[in-house]
Amino acid sequence: MKEKLRISGGVRLEGEISVSGGKNAALAIIPAALLADSPSTIENIPNINDVRVVIEMLKWLGATVDFRDNTLWVDPRNVDKYDPPYELATRMRASYYFAPVLLGLFRRAEVPLPGGCDIGARPIDQTIKGMATLGADVQTLGGILIAKADTMTGADIFLDMPSVGATVNSMLTAVSANGTTLIHNAAKEPHIVDLANFLSSMGASVKGAGTDVIRIRGGRPLHGTNYTVVPDQIETGTLMIAAAATGGDVLITDAIPVHMEALSAKLLEMGVNITSDDDWIRVRSNGRFRAVNVKTQGYPGFPTDLQQPLSALLTVANGNSIVTETIFESRFRFLDELRKMGANVRVIESSAIITGVDHLVGSRVNATDLRAGAAMVIAGLMAEGVTEIGGVGYILRGYERFDEKLRSLGAGIEKVTLNTDAY
Ligand code: UD1
Repeated sequence: MKEKLRISGGVRLEGEISVSGGKNAALAIIPAALLADSPSTIENIPNINDVRVVIEMLKWLGATVDFRDNTLWVDPRNVDKYDPPYELATRMRASYYFAPVLLGLFRRAEVPLPGGCDIGARPIDQTIKGMATLGADVQTLGGILIAKADTMTGADIFLDMPSVGATVNSMLTAVSANGTTLIHNAAKEPHIVDLANFLSSMGASVKGAGTDVIRIRGGRPLHGTNYTVVPDQIETGTLMIAAAATGGDVLITDAIPVHMEALSAKLLEMGVNITSDDDWIRVRSNGRFRAVNVKTQGYPGFPTDLQQPLSALLTVANGNSIVTETIFESRFRFLDELRKMGANVRVIESSAIITGVDHLVGSRVNATDLRAGAAMVIAGLMAEGVTEIGGVGYILRGYERFDEKLRSLGAGIEKVTLNTDAY
């Protein structure tokens, strides 16, 4: 039995759709709530598989939790364990955000190392460096990140690259350390700023998030808080690309347009019409696109998480596009799936040269990772005929009610369970 998404392509998306809360923000914020000495209420949490795994982690560690209608209430006062089990921790990448939190609470943490999407080597040396710089003894033994520290003291952390994961882990370590920490070459993504705002609302002193240097004055206790998670930047972008791809007219609400500037600039360059105000973005397109060149970078550059969805759109743009992936080397694997649908793509080192074709053809394809899955959905929406996408689990890990939302805009997309192992 396999679950697939079946898409009848060629339908214009029209209407209004609201963006869910940010996946990557929620995955960092929820573990941070354990650092408080009282309960927190966190709204706008997307109900996706990764979040449900984090909630299972909270419960396993001893927290009392209630999650309904996208609102999470978490009481951390009975948390009494520092060593989540392998089966749970490895079900998602962001489990390692629990390591600095448990280290802060118990002076010891043992967290099995990340699972998540296989999109290239995903080292954690910068996380280890950040925690060690503040005085923790950190090692990986048998696939487990083991950290110990009797005391931690604020210091300067110099990240080799602006890693999102290492920035989150350094921030979560620094709030429990004594004194001031400066995280240099920090990631600037919207979810980093959201984590900083959440920690501030718990009583922490966090300045500079969204710039290259984050300054944290540590020292608990932190208190519980009421907080609303920022809208999902990548879901917003995926919906924008899907609207454009179908020659549609879609109003995307509960969005933050300023987070989308790198994508909006590319879509405008391609000939897509984009208007926006405080919390909405309207995307209109006539379904004809100019080729563009794109290079992935940390925020505010073009996000690697939107590289695959935009590449799908570029397969039908007029001319040659060059897409350069600088963050995750394996994020071109999905191009083989796009080729099955008639895309004309060559990869030379870290660049894909995409020569636009007239149209894609519906096919049986697979999602090779989360964002590749979103890209295949976009390809299916544009294609002539029916596309069946396997690997649905990847997609639902990161997008809340993805098929339902697209259906509400008119897309011919449904989840089907096939009684076959044929592909
Ligand atoms: C996070 C996001 C993911 C997004 C990525 C880049 C979450 C849960 N996931 O992943 O959706 O695609 O940011 O925006 O928020 N690196 C090292 N050593 C390290 C850490 C990273 O060499 O210790 C390298 C990585 O191999 C990669 C680059 O730095 O080339 C960026 O990785 P990073 O920003 O850490 O990505 P994640 O936090 O894993």
